Amino acid sequence: MFKVHAIASHRLPELLRIMPKAELHIHIEGSLEPELIFALAQRNGVALPYADVAALRSAYAFSNLQSFLDLYYAGASVLLHEQDFYDMAWAYFLKAKADHVVRAELFFDPQTHTARGVPMAAVIEGLSRACHDAQAQLGISADLILCFLRHLSEEDALATLEAALHWRDRFIGVGLDSSEVGHPPEKFSRVFARARGLGLHVVAHAGEEGPPAYIWSALKDLQVERIDHGVQAIHDADLMKHLAASQVPLTVCPLSNLKLCVFKSLAEHTLGQMLDAGLCVTLNSDDPAYFGGYLNDNFLQTFAALHLNAQQAYKLAANSIEASFASEEQKHHFMHQLKQCFQSFSEQD
Ligand code: ADE
Ligand code: ZN
Repeated sequence: MFKVHAIASHRLPELLRIMPKAELHIHIEGSLEPELIFALAQRNGVALPYADVAALRSAYAFSNLQSFLDLYYAGASVLLHEQDFYDMAWAYFLKAKADHVVRAELFFDPQTHTARGVPMAAVIEGLSRACHDAQAQLGISADLILCFLRHLSEEDALATLEAALHWRDRFIGVGLDSSEVGHPPEKFSRVFARARGLGLHVVAHAGEEGPPAYIWSALKDLQVERIDHGVQAIHDADLMKHLAASQVPLTVCPLSNLKLCVFKSLAEHTLGQMLDAGLCVTLNSDDPAYFGGYLNDNFLQTFAALHLNAQQAYKLAANSIEASFASEEQKHHFMHQLKQCFQSFSEQD
């Protein structure tokens, strides 16, 4: 067990900023900043129902997941060409680099685009070219996870997966997102079985707004390797015990939970209780352009609100690396970097 030295609380923010970390829950369409939405709208001749960037940004006041998704899908309507998808992902990677992200696993929603007539090739080739350049130019290891929209049918998800298989080597897994309540994981059992059969990694959003039963279903019916969000697990003692024993990772997104009114304030967020219960928790940004912060903003604001410490910072960063789908060799390298970071930081005391 790596020994984390106590660090003076005024130095903790700097440690949070510079520690190497993995981001495992970022919807790349949710990184589309209003400025880029307007630039792409102009480039592509798409009309927007907002006068300017400020007007669009002022519409970012959400009451629940659905109220956000309506705007999120509208924002994505400016994406038409391969270069648009590249530019969106590249803008994210520059932010990730500033936040000392060493590994990023990007969700993307092909159905949001193919339903508008955008070719699957434009989506996957633009995003995967950006992932390639992130490694080559920024030293960030990056991969794609294809998400199915759960408000659509399983048949649509199956057809989407088959269409994407032409680019089988460009994505490492599948996920499940969009409107949760009323669309339980078991609705997608067949398409997840197909994905597992193809050797793809499998993850799913569960327990963001939906009940603990959805987390059980994601685990049992979809056999997921990670749960995205999972914060509703706190209401089911047996599930908390199961998650602690199995160490299935949870990708928690505090600023998202705050902006979508899952918690009234960050001080009421249950991240600390989840850590105390021994769950394998990671911190992530979800849709940073809409929720007021990228990964380091999530770390800084959550640690301040919940009075978390350096030991917990190390645990969250280590969890993110270990829970990632990077190769064992890469994980080993990132863990070494993480330990070195904490070691040299404590020596400067
Ligand atoms: N798609 C983008 N962000 C999402 C979220 N937080 N939950 C479900 N689907 C999403
Ligand atoms: Zn999400």
